[in-house]
Amino acid sequence: MNSRDIVKQILTTSAHAPSGGNSQPWKFEVTANSIQIYADPEKDHPILNFRNRGTWVAHGALLENISIAVEEYGHECDIEIFPDASSRSNLTAIVTLRNGSGPHSKKNLYHSIPKRNTNRKAYRNEPLSEAHRDTLEQAGMNFGDVVCGLTKDDMDLNSLGRALAVADRIMLENRILHGLFFKEIVWTEEEERTKREGLYLKTMELEPSQEFMFKRLRHWPLMSILTHLGVAKKIASENARIYSSASAIGAVLTPDRDDAFINAGRLLQRVWLTATDLGLSVQVFGGVTFLAQSARADELSMLSRRHIKLIGDAYSKLNSVFGTKDKLISLLFRVGYSDKPTAYSSKKKPRITYIKP
Ligand SMILES: Cc1cc2nc3c(=O)[nH]c(=O)nc-3n(C[C@H](O)[C@H](O)[C@H](O)COP(=O)(O)O)c2cc1C
Repeated sequence: MNSRDIVKQILTTSAHAPSGGNSQPWKFEVTANSIQIYADPEKDHPILNFRNRGTWVAHGALLENISIAVEEYGHECDIEIFPDASSRSNLTAIVTLRNGSGPHSKKNLYHSIPKRNTNRKAYRNEPLSEAHRDTLEQAGMNFGDVVCGLTKDDMDLNSLGRALAVADRIMLENRILHGLFFKEIVWTEEEERTKREGLYLKTMELEPSQEFMFKRLRHWPLMSILTHLGVAKKIASENARIYSSASAIGAVLTPDRDDAFINAGRLLQRVWLTATDLGLSVQVFGGVTFLAQSARADELSMLSRRHIKLIGDAYSKLNSVFGTKDKLISLLFRVGYSDKPTAYSSKKKPRITYIKP
């Protein structure tokens, strides 16, 4: 393979990174020995993507993949984050490639990159084996000033599950969030095959009767009536039960700086790939934590006071388990033992422009 083919292969594999609503908010410019990565933050959720931080998490995961893939091809790389902070070019990173000492001999996580996925099924309610816990904790060691914590106590799982599901309830009960959520859904297999972005219905793991109902709930007038009958609350409590079926819940703790969210994404991806390698299932949650950041910045005027209070209470619960004084909880994830997902999210071919020197 010539070097252009290698870079194309590295980016095609790396673009299997997670992103909010499977938005894949990135594009690339490639020169002889460097890859410039640009963000497309407007592809991400306009309300949940507080200060583009969800986009930066996705880019962090992408960069982690790139650094693993570069190593797999026997190269090394330097990564410079936000090299052009003063401009509005959305240039997230420049990756400069160097020749390494040939194909690496140690095991890396390259083969887990395309296998990693979101599993929204109920998990098996089993505790993590000691070996799995140790390996995940090793993978979640500090990344710069970002750290990761895992619940040790099963007692926390139920209350954390309930706190995480608060975002689902608000997403269904608030007209704007409801509209934005259903806009992201990809309804059919054919649409999924052609679009290759968005939230594919079959990855939601709904029972046939729930899927029937879900398709009707996209219509706001019906959703609004059913909200008064407590339907959104009931769906959230069912989701809470699914979330607490995990073996453990993890939190990524991040300083309150935009650039730190890139490292949050790198650390999350490292843990996720490690879990994949161990045969464990993972689902990530950004709803409560991103809404809580917007609430703190007084940027949630579209929500009722009651919903803002629900978010505050849910975040306090997360904080009582994981919190530190100097960091935000940026994301949570559940990890555990489960059957394989019913369906997977497709990824688009990366958009690459080759620049002649
Ligand atoms: C910043 C961020 C926030 C996310 N929030 C959620 C979430 O709240 N709930 C969820 O089920 N998945 C969440 N995800 C996972 C994405 O929906 C998922 O990565 C995407 O749909 C692609 O699917 P895949 O992970 O199977 O490749 C989030 C991912 C990112 C990067």
